[in-house]
Amino acid sequence: MISSSKFLALLASLGLVSAVNDAISSRAPDPCAAIGGKKWVAPRDVRACYSSIKVDQTLKTNMIDVVNKTLAFHTSVNYQIKAPQPFTSDVHEDLLGDLARIKSQRYRSDYDLHIDLSRTLKRLNDGHCVWINRCFVSSLFVNYLPIPLTLLTDAKGNQDVHIAPEAFTVASAEFPDQIQVWQDSLPGSLKGNLQSLSGAKVLTINGLPPTFAIDDNAKITGSFQSLATRQNSFFSSYQIGAAGWTYIMGNFAQQALPLSDDVALIIQRVNNTAIEKITLPYRSRLGSTARAFTDTNSYLANNCRAVDGTNGVDAYASSTPQIDPSSKPVAKFQQQPPISAESSRKHLVNVILDTSPLSDVVLPPALVPGLSPVNGSRNAAQFYMLKDKKTGVLALGSFSDTDFLPFLDSLLQGLVSLKSQGATRLVVDVTNNGGGFICAAHWLHRIIAGPKSTTVPQAGLDTTARDGPLAQLIAKQIVGTNADPDLLLLYNPLQWNNATNVPFAANEDWLQLPVAKIINGRHDAFSQRLGQECQPGSFPTNAPGVALFDPKEVVIVNNGRCASSCSLFSITMAKLEGAKTVVVGGKQGVKQQYCGTVGGQSTDFSTMDTEIKTTHLKNNTLAPPDLLVNGVQGITWRLGFGIVNPQEPEEWQDHPADLNLPLTAASVNNPVAIWEDVARRLLA
Ligand SMILES: *[C@@H]1O[C@H](CO)[C@@H](O)[C@H](O)[C@H]1NC(C)=O
Ligand SMILES: *[C@@H]1O[C@H](CO)[C@@H](O)[C@H](O)[C@H]1NC(C)=O
Ligand SMILES: *[C@@H]1O[C@H](CO)[C@@H](O)[C@H](O)[C@H]1NC(C)=O
Ligand SMILES: *[C@@H]1O[C@H](CO)[C@@H](O)[C@H](O)[C@H]1NC(C)=O
Ligand SMILES: *[C@@H]1O[C@H](CO)[C@@H](O)[C@H](O)[C@H]1NC(C)=O
Repeated sequence: MISSSKFLALLASLGLVSAVNDAISSRAPDPCAAIGGKKWVAPRDVRACYSSIKVDQTLKTNMIDVVNKTLAFHTSVNYQIKAPQPFTSDVHEDLLGDLARIKSQRYRSDYDLHIDLSRTLKRLNDGHCVWINRCFVSSLFVNYLPIPLTLLTDAKGNQDVHIAPEAFTVASAEFPDQIQVWQDSLPGSLKGNLQSLSGAKVLTINGLPPTFAIDDNAKITGSFQSLATRQNSFFSSYQIGAAGWTYIMGNFAQQALPLSDDVALIIQRVNNTAIEKITLPYRSRLGSTARAFTDTNSYLANNCRAVDGTNGVDAYASSTPQIDPSSKPVAKFQQQPPISAESSRKHLVNVILDTSPLSDVVLPPALVPGLSPVNGSRNAAQFYMLKDKKTGVLALGSFSDTDFLPFLDSLLQGLVSLKSQGATRLVVDVTNNGGGFICAAHWLHRIIAGPKSTTVPQAGLDTTARDGPLAQLIAKQIVGTNADPDLLLLYNPLQWNNATNVPFAANEDWLQLPVAKIINGRHDAFSQRLGQECQPGSFPTNAPGVALFDPKEVVIVNNGRCASSCSLFSITMAKLEGAKTVVVGGKQGVKQQYCGTVGGQSTDFSTMDTEIKTTHLKNNTLAPPDLLVNGVQGITWRLGFGIVNPQEPEEWQDHPADLNLPLTAASVNNPVAIWEDVARRLLA
């Protein structure tokens, strides 16, 4: 009898095999139907669905065209070919070269194409310039393990990877409908005893010392230039959110794509000498914002095609429905709480994008600060007084808030309340703060440090925009044809001040003449230097006449993951005012950066498309077409100039933390314990 493989070989020799394969696949069950309507599934089943979708050449060409042409507005493309020191070994991506490669490369599936395209952008290690295709990430399935990890240091100073002491408390609260699957998958006497793993030392991950898994993740996690910060992304952490304290699982216990099916660990549990081997499965959970589907066709139709707000609009066309910036798809991925339509129209932001929306996993009650919030506390800005009665704390999870002015007022009120209670020194905890309103960052610097040459009129960084041919045409249209009477467009000269802080006139084309630069051997062009943008119009009128705190008695604390407007605040406080900086729980022996992804102002494809459509330039060959898929492309639109080297961008200048604070089982993910430790060590 002939075996089936020999039979196929025979058919292949007759040129018939593809017909046979087609016949088999048309009868095969639909892999997306297998996961449709389910909440928890195995990662391999999600991959089977994603991988069954073939590349549609029209959509592929469209995506690459949109990304490529949007990058003409991104300030950093040529710098990122080879970033300056100290980030040369971290950032070296020739984006346009890689897009050309991807264009001509063939892929087995749309999922493979997505992984290549999204990782190519992630290699910039720039949280502003990210490609997110909602067909595959976060709004769909997210991969979880019930054992977030952390780096703990013992009394002798040895640092090891541990399962977070609070792991079981977090997982049983967040995954009540799945925890039994993990309980049952543990071997022998550990079965049903997941709780006993909390705090365990992790000796190997998939047969290798943990450092391999940490560094493999650092290669693909993106968002931050520095290796140290990308290593920290592997581990659990916390954030103060608009609705309370949240827990961030970290990239080991939460994957945006269904990458891993399981993990094998060798562990040593707390108070145990035994070395034990366990294997736990990752489980994929359908996101709460995914649109329901039953098969491949409804999956594609409901989750993968452009939606309202994917593309821009002509801001003055009465026929086009106007969409609030706050309800555009990009808003879901901006790492800030929701902003009111009014505030997001009026106030510019500098904020990173992440494939995972903000976490809503709750920080266990035992770790939530038990101190009472001080007056002025509001949403993601909470003020506390430590028990020493002299250290005030501002826990600030974002530089955004629903409403701009009330937020700035409450920042002032909180600091004044702390002072009235006797605070003489201040800890500002900006752990996982992804940025927000640019002028909120300048305001906080201004009110802490008082009025002085470093805060008035410019409390932030001077900036520059890219000055490419299409940008120049947009500015010309606005200046020459009064295309933007209501001041809705970013290229309107009335939005900006020149380098000596004088506002441009309506007829002043601020993109002329472009400043030519050669960066990494490529010709580039930028706008003239722009000066301050917040004072007086975007500040409350009651800025105090004196410093509220001695900036040298201010410590900025985070896990390195402080970006965008958070970087603008931290850098000006550290480099101009002498504030101290602390990174918590970083890997020993690796230089920790207290912030990253500085930018100046961030925006996205849909916003640039509105500039193009409103100035009637959509027909220009340089204009990106409308995007056909459910995607988001972020960019840095303005880049801040440096403080130590004012002629070069701050983006790739050094931001070394003064202290890498070791964490213990008692202090990890415990904000009050961390603040007390910081105050003891740095505020004598
Ligand atoms: C990107 O756009 C530029 C300018 O239009 C063009 O020369 C280049 O071929 C494009 N690259 C890809 C990969 O489409
Ligand atoms: C480990 O042993 C110490 C000392 O006996 C005890 O205080 C602690 O609660 C134990 N921890 C666990 C998780 O069993
Ligand atoms: C807190 O704020 C409220 C309302 O603004 C005010 O009435 C109260 O006096 C403040 N309390 C303190 C202790 O500052
Ligand atoms: C800013 O504009 C004012 C008024 O036109 C001008 O006097 C000044 O030189 C300009 N500054 C720069 C740096 O161009
Ligand atoms: C683009 O070109 C087409 C065909 O020439 C024309 O009908 C259309 O009005 C143009 N659109 C814009 C926005 O200029």
